[in-house]
Amino acid sequence: MSRFFSFILYFSLFSFHFSFLQARERQNFDEGWLFLLADSTQMSQKDYNDRAWRSLNLPHDWSIEGDFNAGNPAGAGGGALPGGIGWYRKHFTISPKDKGQRFYIEFDGVYMNSTVFVNGKELGTRPYGFISFSYDITDALNFSGDNVVAVRVDNHYQPNCRWYSGSGIYRHTYLLKTNPTHVTQWGTYVTAQLNDNMKRADIAVEVQVEGAQKATKVRAIFLDEFGKKVGKSQATLAKSNHKNEQGKTVSTFKANLTLSNPIIWSIEHPALYKVVTEVLNGSKVVDSYETTFGVRTFKFDAQKGFSLNGKSMKINGVCQHHDLGCLGAAINEDALHRQLRILKDMGCNGIRCSHNPPAPELLAMCDSMGFIVMDEAFDMWHRSKTKYDYAHYFDQWFERDLTDFVLRDRNHPSILMWSTGNEVLEQWSSNDGTELSIEQANLILNFGHDASTLANGNEKSVNSLLAERLSDIVRQLDATRPITAGCNEPNPNNHLFKSNAFDIIGYNYHNGNVADVPKNFPGKAFIFTESNSSLATRGFYVMPSDSIIESPKEWWRPYTDPTFMCSAYDNQRASWGNLQEETWDLIKHNDFVTGQYIWTGWDYIGEPTPYGFPARSSYFGIIDLAGFPKDTYYFYQSEWTDKPTLHLFPHWNWIEGQTVDLWCYYNQADEVELFVNGKSKGTRKKGEHTFHVMWRVPFEPGEVRVVARKNGEEVRSQTIHTAGQPHHLRLTTDKTHIAANGTSLAFVTVEVVDKDGNLCPHADTQIFFEVEGGATIAGVDNGCQTSMERFKDNKRKAFHGKCLVVLQSTKTASTIRLTAKSYDLLTATLSIISEK
Ligand code: GAL
Repeated sequence: MSRFFSFILYFSLFSFHFSFLQARERQNFDEGWLFLLADSTQMSQKDYNDRAWRSLNLPHDWSIEGDFNAGNPAGAGGGALPGGIGWYRKHFTISPKDKGQRFYIEFDGVYMNSTVFVNGKELGTRPYGFISFSYDITDALNFSGDNVVAVRVDNHYQPNCRWYSGSGIYRHTYLLKTNPTHVTQWGTYVTAQLNDNMKRADIAVEVQVEGAQKATKVRAIFLDEFGKKVGKSQATLAKSNHKNEQGKTVSTFKANLTLSNPIIWSIEHPALYKVVTEVLNGSKVVDSYETTFGVRTFKFDAQKGFSLNGKSMKINGVCQHHDLGCLGAAINEDALHRQLRILKDMGCNGIRCSHNPPAPELLAMCDSMGFIVMDEAFDMWHRSKTKYDYAHYFDQWFERDLTDFVLRDRNHPSILMWSTGNEVLEQWSSNDGTELSIEQANLILNFGHDASTLANGNEKSVNSLLAERLSDIVRQLDATRPITAGCNEPNPNNHLFKSNAFDIIGYNYHNGNVADVPKNFPGKAFIFTESNSSLATRGFYVMPSDSIIESPKEWWRPYTDPTFMCSAYDNQRASWGNLQEETWDLIKHNDFVTGQYIWTGWDYIGEPTPYGFPARSSYFGIIDLAGFPKDTYYFYQSEWTDKPTLHLFPHWNWIEGQTVDLWCYYNQADEVELFVNGKSKGTRKKGEHTFHVMWRVPFEPGEVRVVARKNGEEVRSQTIHTAGQPHHLRLTTDKTHIAANGTSLAFVTVEVVDKDGNLCPHADTQIFFEVEGGATIAGVDNGCQTSMERFKDNKRKAFHGKCLVVLQSTKTASTIRLTAKSYDLLTATLSIISEK
């Protein structure tokens, strides 16, 4: 059977299923698309001949499939991967029985400038590549035969993003069928106010219903985290109604419920509730819509800092850029979950979605895993930071995009603050960004403005008014959360601060100005919206480790080092940044500082500061691009968790007699003692302001051992052996079982080890992979910022002894066998079960 006819068959079955349902049907629409990296206006047409196009399933990012090249217009800042213009098409059928129902196509994100057509009819264009949107396609549908949705994606004007954007329909898509009377997109708003010493939650639900009739009623059914019904409430029709874009009337219904002894959402126990809003015409349920919410209370206090549910705590967060390493921007729940899990294990409790609206799945995971989210709308406003960025569309689109962003996200309990922008150039009255390279603009952003570009006296500039306008839009849609922005001009005469548009003062870096915050911004709480920008390559160490490498030393100087690596002791940073320990020291010892979002949790593609091409991914992460922790991961673990931590580094393979600095992060112990081949090198203790200890010793092959003691008793120890010659490969998977659903992933760590199983820290062996059974290789990586190897391949070099292979299940349940081979090394195999 031809592929075309199997589509028809598949979607006939699919629509047959549809026609029997009463209430809404939201069907994942990711499978069975066709793609071509080319452009012609004809491609929008229904009958366009697309039979030779490539078949694929969404989410899809075509940039990640390409080769790194200095000539790619995104530049190293954008990951040096290709952009371009591509088209997606998908054939589908709708049952004639569904005439009279409404149909919508929903996109969680398309990068960028997407134009959607159904059966040749143009439905609209959305320039912003990070925004979610949908179209009512009902009037364009053919109810007796083939339908074609065609999407043109234009990402050829580059650079347009800081940092790697990816290209294509890189998030999920849905086909939604509803009754003409239905809850609108993102049409519920749930707020929960904790009262009576947190013993009572007063819950209010607002529901927007399109096409309501006289007999339309709405009821709300509340379920707890176990799915048990905890309440029911009849909604009342509010007086106001309005017309939507299609001229249809939208009515507002409101329901309330009081919950006694609610289960409270917290970092440790992120309890979630659900409200099911049912829309009835007479006695018939015509729509049913689920909204997840949480019950919590929090405070950002100018003196005491942050508290959640009355408990004081620091926001120990990280900034995350949106890519998923070797998978690119194409969203995958398992990859996202892995990112968050590794961060959670470090003790991280917050995520800043820098600098754009994230995939909805990220927010859902933050809800259920317990993270404090700063949800950020824009990286620029009216003034550009890169030549072709969103600033070109801002004036026309910001109201719509900001509104959609808040409407989509405002029910997530994990979101505790909105950010309307990051380091926007409107902080100053002059504009430098447009004509500069991405690297120059970044430096200017951090250093380049003088006092004459700030607000004078009580002046309320256009920039201040714009800041106010954005905050007003947000506040009108959600008054339950504070608003901030990631500023990088700490002076109170910053045009944005002057506007008084922010509830929380947020700025990036500038540790030296923090002591003045209470004086400069009386009564306002403060957060480091971004901090550190310290730099590291996993497994690479520059000694002496107590000398600090500023790279570049001054912002106008280029930084070069032939290694293209950065030191993984906490001793290298961008010149505008700080070391990991420095900022934590400041935050830990100043109650009024509510916390920080470190730049960054994970490395990301693009922005290879302090280098240029062939470096093409960041050095800022605490975790490398492949997901392997760098050493400072354990510093945070020792400070942010109760998990017993003892981490000695670096490796123990040096040149005989070479002086080596050994560092140790630890907790839950009074002191640590180091032994080299059994001989003590002394006992060390951390101080109030130092978070590691160090020994400087000459290298001799053998073993190095650290012992942690509490009350004089050994509580734990760690030994590192000098590794011998590479001997075999070791494979370790994060999962032994995955779902045979075509999307589940297993992340397999590959290590080059000696005959005794010690990691060979200098190994950079080429490793080849073979897969048998129901899986394919979704990507390979090793965390090296300068590797020019493809992310989509069946081979990878080890980097400092390690690499990663990502297996993706097919829909066939089986035993998956991964084999890793290399020259002169013993082969390794690993089995993973995929099951239905
Ligand atoms: C900030 C910026 C981030 C990133 C970071 C690197 O100025 O907001 O996007 O560029 O610097 O240090």
